[in-house]
Amino acid sequence: MMTESPLRLGIAGLGTVGGSVVELLQSQKEILRQRCARPLEIRAVSARDARRSRGVSLQGMEWVEDAVALAHRDDIDVVVELIGGADGVAFDLCRSALEAGKHVVTANKAMLARHGFELAQLAEHRNRALAFEAAVAGGIPIVKALREGAAANSVESVTGILNGTCNYILTTMAKTGAPFADVLAEAQQLGYAEADPGFDIDGWDTAHKLTILASIAFGVRPAFQSISVEGIRFIRAEDVRAASELGFTIKLLGVARMDRSGISQRVYPCLVPLRSPISHVDGVHNAIEFSGDYIGQVMIQGRGAGGGPTASAVAADLVDIANGRLSTTFGQPATALAEARPMDGQASEGHYYLRFLLHEQTGAVARLAAVLSKHGVSIRTLVQKDESQSGDVPLYLTTHRCAESAMRAALAEVQASSDLAAPPMLLRIEYF
Ligand code: NDP
Ligand code: HSE
Repeated sequence: MMTESPLRLGIAGLGTVGGSVVELLQSQKEILRQRCARPLEIRAVSARDARRSRGVSLQGMEWVEDAVALAHRDDIDVVVELIGGADGVAFDLCRSALEAGKHVVTANKAMLARHGFELAQLAEHRNRALAFEAAVAGGIPIVKALREGAAANSVESVTGILNGTCNYILTTMAKTGAPFADVLAEAQQLGYAEADPGFDIDGWDTAHKLTILASIAFGVRPAFQSISVEGIRFIRAEDVRAASELGFTIKLLGVARMDRSGISQRVYPCLVPLRSPISHVDGVHNAIEFSGDYIGQVMIQGRGAGGGPTASAVAADLVDIANGRLSTTFGQPATALAEARPMDGQASEGHYYLRFLLHEQTGAVARLAAVLSKHGVSIRTLVQKDESQSGDVPLYLTTHRCAESAMRAALAEVQASSDLAAPPMLLRIEYF
């Protein structure tokens, strides 16, 4: 390709993702030279600790103490924000950079979910890119697929496994039986988890990503405040094992749907049948399924976290900017994005998985079944284990389809029973 003046980059954040971006831009230099109208050149970098070894060469790059200063330098065209956090330095930097007429590339889904609309307005006002392929599902090009590839469609739903850490935890627990805390520590070591892993395991990171996807899919402003969020913190190795014996696997899903009344956005762990394609999305992999009126159903999967895949997505955005391909942030001008209306409250129905721990008492199982039946909840499968050291009896069951209100009412009554040795646990079952 023709070589013009370099596209000069200022990179803020040199951790898992930032370090990998520097490494990728060096090792893939030849490929990128072929594919970019302008060579990519890192002019300056910033992080918290200048003395820390980064495992990559920073030769020829100026070290900048205050990351926000990158926004005001005349020798930088693109600010690459890889610090993280919805507010604070990351947001100050991105806002200042756009105000100063620089392009911004970021992997920061927390910031975009909260401030994406304001930043998109700024970017469009200045005719600059606010690019964020890396913010959703690591290396998977889902932003481009949905925003550009499906641009001619009315999209009805987006469903995904959107958090690599949670999927790694759930699938490793299923394969090895290792306890939750140990597998989370592994995911942190591998660079998958957020600085505060509570964002991963309590579902917030999935919610941030779902907010971004819903905005693109449905043409609305990011509406993070209206998402219902449950995480996986309370799931135990025994649930993962029981789910498998019952023919399921447990996944943390983000599900966004639109109908005439509005939009529903939910994050929750659920059982999916072992025969469904999404149940085989293992480890750090993510998968996103969306359906549009012309394109039909699309599923795309790949590595959802980690330095390499995420750096690949950051670099893809840089290539677009170097080639002058600037997209509107959420697929249409920010001024045209509608306010997201929450879907009318609907009587929810579903299939459910329940875990009980009962005292070893004659008739306990029969009494439990009677309460469920009284509320119209019919048992589909039941596994009773003889494994508790306390002498209590673990019981795992799935139900036929029933109203969620009936399920909750039955559980409230069961919880008052003296047969229960511990609070019950409820998960939805989703059939794909
Ligand atoms: P890390 O914690 O590994 O890296 C964060 C970097 O930011 C560090 O280099 C740190 O400096 C620097 N930093 C922190 N505070 C400041 C500050 N006040 N001023 C300047 N630099 C600062 O995080 P990740 O690389 O994992 O994540 C970065 C972003 O990418 C986040 O938004 C995250 O959500 C997102 N992301 C992460 C993915 C992953 O797999 N890890 C995947 C997709 C997105 P120092 O090193 O000196 O401490
Ligand atoms: N912590 C995130 C995850 C990083 O595990 O999916 C990728 O966004």
